Amino acid sequence: MSQTTTATAPLVTGTFAGLSTRLDDERRAGRTVGVVLTMGALHEGHASLIGRAAAACDVVAVSVFVNPTQFADPSDLTNYPRTLDADVALAAAAGAHVVFAPPVNEVYPEWPTPPATTVTVRALVDRWEGVARPGHFDGVATVVTKLLSAAGRCRTYFGEKDFQQLAVVRRVARDLSLPVEVVGCPTVREHDGLAMSSRNVRLSPVERTAAVSLSRALGTGADALAAGAGTAGVEAAMAAVVAEEPLVDLDYAVLVDAAELEPADAAAPGPLRLLIAARVGQVRLIDNLDPRASR
Ligand code: PAF
Repeated sequence: MSQTTTATAPLVTGTFAGLSTRLDDERRAGRTVGVVLTMGALHEGHASLIGRAAAACDVVAVSVFVNPTQFADPSDLTNYPRTLDADVALAAAAGAHVVFAPPVNEVYPEWPTPPATTVTVRALVDRWEGVARPGHFDGVATVVTKLLSAAGRCRTYFGEKDFQQLAVVRRVARDLSLPVEVVGCPTVREHDGLAMSSRNVRLSPVERTAAVSLSRALGTGADALAAGAGTAGVEAAMAAVVAEEPLVDLDYAVLVDAAELEPADAAAPGPLRLLIAARVGQVRLIDNLDPRASR
């Protein structure tokens, strides 16, 4: 890393031109660029991604854009928290130098008419979260393509918490030859194991307690795998943990291959992942775990 960049107030820009010009200037000056894409409502999980980017790159840009094309439910979009001032402060404290916070018409000039061109990742988007949220990953893939194209050559940091999103972004970057290195970062957890998420604030105290069963179920699934259980046994072990919590309505608890997220054989030699999704009250939560790590 160069020593020339200091932690002053970040440049806040709302235009693609403002973002590209600044990052092109930085690269011309020989500095490396790290990018963290967000929808705002930043929490410690985002701070950790920004911190990772700041530790490895000379200049860090953070986008804050509540992307309307990835919401299936219009009320979800309306109610999504918008906290730009706090987001800029948190991003700066975590090491960001540039905050890109565009209005919707900068990203989608014809909005509320959606763009005619969208990005779809075949197969990968039809599973798991793609079933529960039709069209969601097309919206994610499209906006990520636009944002990373404007950012240019960079490393971009995504949380493993949204494991399917990370797989989609890796695919987009590879298939469209984007000049980016996608870096997956470990999930940041609360003291009791609950994965950090902007949605957690919507849980009541009893729901918050019940929600810990998701990470507990993942641990139990990993133990079952280590003890020699097959795929069905691993998935049943996870489901049994969640079944003990009446406030938690399980959607899926599955063992998949870590690249394409297809149902996997427990004996498969390649990287595996446990995925879980459930509704806790009105809030849909997801989590995942590498079952072979640290066991
Ligand atoms: O993970 C998110 O916050 C969003 O899906 C992303 C990647 C910023 C795209 O809008």
